[in-house]
Amino acid sequence: MIGTDIITAKKLLESGEVVAIPTETVYGLAGNAINPAAVQKIFEVKQRPTFNPLIIHVPDHEAILKYTTSIPEKLLILSKEFMPGPLTLLLEKKEIIPDLVTAGSSRVAVRIPNHHLSLELLRSIDFPLAAPSANPFGYISPTTARHVEQQLGDKVPYILDGGECQVGIESTIIGMEEDKVMVYRKGGIALEDLVALVGEVYLKEGKNAIPITPGMLPSHYAPKTKLVLGNIDDLISENQGKSYAILTFGTHSFKKPLRIFNLSKDGKTAEAARNLYRILREIDELDFDIILAELLPEQGLGAAINDRLRRAAAV
Ligand code: TXA
Ligand code: MG
Repeated sequence: MIGTDIITAKKLLESGEVVAIPTETVYGLAGNAINPAAVQKIFEVKQRPTFNPLIIHVPDHEAILKYTTSIPEKLLILSKEFMPGPLTLLLEKKEIIPDLVTAGSSRVAVRIPNHHLSLELLRSIDFPLAAPSANPFGYISPTTARHVEQQLGDKVPYILDGGECQVGIESTIIGMEEDKVMVYRKGGIALEDLVALVGEVYLKEGKNAIPITPGMLPSHYAPKTKLVLGNIDDLISENQGKSYAILTFGTHSFKKPLRIFNLSKDGKTAEAARNLYRILREIDELDFDIILAELLPEQGLGAAINDRLRRAAAV
């Protein structure tokens, strides 16, 4: 069932059930993070392997220290600026957080979602919510309550409807290694914005890096329709005879503008992020043979969007 009743959501969560919740990034599939049975249920509903750890969601900065031992100075600076918001911190966990949540790691991922309904819900309960994105493992993350219903409606007793997600891509995940700020997943906070505050950050997503965040598995975030990346005009000539959708950004004049889906006609990366998953779903429903897509400029949220597009193309 879809609704906007926080009390219903709260009661279900208190009884160990899972509930889909809105956030500013994507919808989450939430359960009581300190109840291993509830956490287990999240993995089952999502059909997600349990070696892939979960982010816990808390209502405010104080709550972060209920579940973690300390916040290093640089992360504190970033957290003050960007939380609530699409930033997730990897911090040393306290005993109370079950190993199932962190897949055995000593670090837990924590974030404060910037969405009034979920913040109100989090303030009304006395436990954190573990929540991965509310999509079946490997598919596009949901940015509306309807998306969740379409894919998990029969497995989730309640979907808290908070409208369309305003950021539209997942949070940026950061942590410290020695005195360096590491970015493990690009997301809703641009790298430039982190660097502006703490001087430098290191991207730990390269092929040689250990996959500390298994969300970096190449085929994550994939639509069902095959997606290829490149110069759109070239791709059009290479794919003659196929039915294709064009996924583009900014102003363009294609010779044969058949099926164009524009992430942001004004060339704004934040707008493109907000539109990305919804547009991929729309395209998926139209049964094209192939999606011809181009990368965005690597600026602002362009870098995180390109990351998602490369993963979608890697299937
Ligand atoms: O915006 C978001 O972060 C959304 C909303 C719902 O909050 N959540 C989300 O969760 O994207 P999920 O589970 O789809 O992706 C979380 C990522 C995964 O790649 C996971 O491996 C990584 O965070 N992660 C979680 N806990 C971790 C830990 N203890 N150590 C390393 N990576 C962790
Ligand atoms: Mg996910």
